[in-house]
Amino acid sequence: AGDGPLSGRHALVTSGPTHEPIDPVRYIANRSSGKQGHAIAAALAASGARVTLVSGPVSVPDPPGVEVRRVETAREMLAACEAALPADVAVMAAAVADWRTAREAGQKLKKEPGAAAPVLEMALNPDILATVAGHPERRPRLVVGFAAETERVVEHAVAKRARKGCDWIVANDVSGGVMGGAANTVHLVTETGVEGWPEMPKQEVARRLAARIAEALAR
Ligand code: C5P
Repeated sequence: AGDGPLSGRHALVTSGPTHEPIDPVRYIANRSSGKQGHAIAAALAASGARVTLVSGPVSVPDPPGVEVRRVETAREMLAACEAALPADVAVMAAAVADWRTAREAGQKLKKEPGAAAPVLEMALNPDILATVAGHPERRPRLVVGFAAETERVVEHAVAKRARKGCDWIVANDVSGGVMGGAANTVHLVTETGVEGWPEMPKQEVARRLAARIAEALAR
């Protein structure tokens, strides 16, 4: 927490993938480097906010001046987010696994010669964004979700904003090389409309988003 337009505010950010264990040595995950979410946490901190970053397993370094809570699974991520509330703003940039295995095997699944491949039964994970956006007493004033789509990006983002009950959606087209890359092309879907932003480094997306958040919270 420091000087800047977000001084005195608390921001909650999620970033990275989640890992859902199959057995002690295997997991299911989403593709996410954590670059965009970590850049947003850094930009909010640079604007003066106190930032809690709940991060799945990533190899990018912890952003300076940010309190980092490391988690593995979606359920751990949800618990860490709920523990971090109240917050003035929540930005959910994590690529959360939609499903986990219904049962985690206590021992490594063995590959027996001639045996059939295992069939994994899956269970639905909690939706962290929708839960935080619908929180009865501790809903942050501004809740921002992400949408990674490979087609009809804006249409899907507008629908997602309504479905999740969040205020804004940052939508990006991930049909190209965005995953793990340094640049991003996004659309910002707000209560008043849709803005297309030009391609820019993820740090710049983060800085602009932090500026917009500061503006919105100042109203
Ligand atoms: O439904 P979908 O995964 O496309 O939505 C993406 C948005 O929802 C992102 O902001 C992501 O962080 C969030 N999300 C979540 N918990 C889930 C699934 C998605 O917070 N289980």
